[in-house]
Amino acid sequence: MENEVKLTVGAMVTFAIAVSALVVLPYIQVSDVKPPEGLKPYTSAELRGRASYIANGCMYCHSQQPRSESFAPDAKRGWGRASVPGDYYYDSPHLLGSMRTGPDLFNVGVRQPSKDWNLGHLYQPRAYVPGSIMPSFPYLFEVKDKADPDEETLNLPPGVAPPGKVVVPKPEVLDLVKYLQSLKHEYPVLPPEPHDAAAPAAAARPAS
Ligand code: HEC
Repeated sequence: MENEVKLTVGAMVTFAIAVSALVVLPYIQVSDVKPPEGLKPYTSAELRGRASYIANGCMYCHSQQPRSESFAPDAKRGWGRASVPGDYYYDSPHLLGSMRTGPDLFNVGVRQPSKDWNLGHLYQPRAYVPGSIMPSFPYLFEVKDKADPDEETLNLPPGVAPPGKVVVPKPEVLDLVKYLQSLKHEYPVLPPEPHDAAAPAAAARPAS
């Protein structure tokens, strides 16, 4: 009997330690995170685009979490500074992603701001990046003989649109591109990144 009691108590203590380390402590650490000054809330069009990003499974190939220099050369790849918890203040659910079949997109709005490029690339990635393994998303567009007066058409490289037809983006892909263009996390974040943290303190110390 004594052994069963020890086993049960041991299991409960182990479980309690695991819950504190993996749930309670992280929760306390990020519970009072504030949005950085440079971060804007999403507009309603951007939020619709975000829903389309989720629905189309973009996050199965794209992460949104540039790592710090000590983990990966993400800054050298042009993916931006390491992200901080405040960067995700308006994100629900967050779309960190774990796969990097394609580049990290947390700063794609800085790197690739062109609406035409993004729309065309979603219609046919290989028209812009030869040999790209990104899937095309043709069902987000309509191929027509002629656009209606209030519709915009894609400016595609020659030979990409079906001959004699125009390609019209559907509202969900226009919103998706607005969301991609909004992914800019270049503003400075406080407190300073750890490797700089010592410098201001040293400067503030009175000279002896
Ligand atoms: C099967 C994996 C896969 C999926 C799913 C996928 N992508 Fe990609 N994506 C890639 C790869 C690989 C590249 C790099 C080659 C290229 O630019 O086409 C890329 C490139 C990109 C780029 C250009 C990034 C840059 O740094 O220039 C954007 C923007 C992008 N993808 C957006 C999306 C969006 C939006 C979706 C969802 C609708 C999506 N991707 C779905 C694999 C994927």
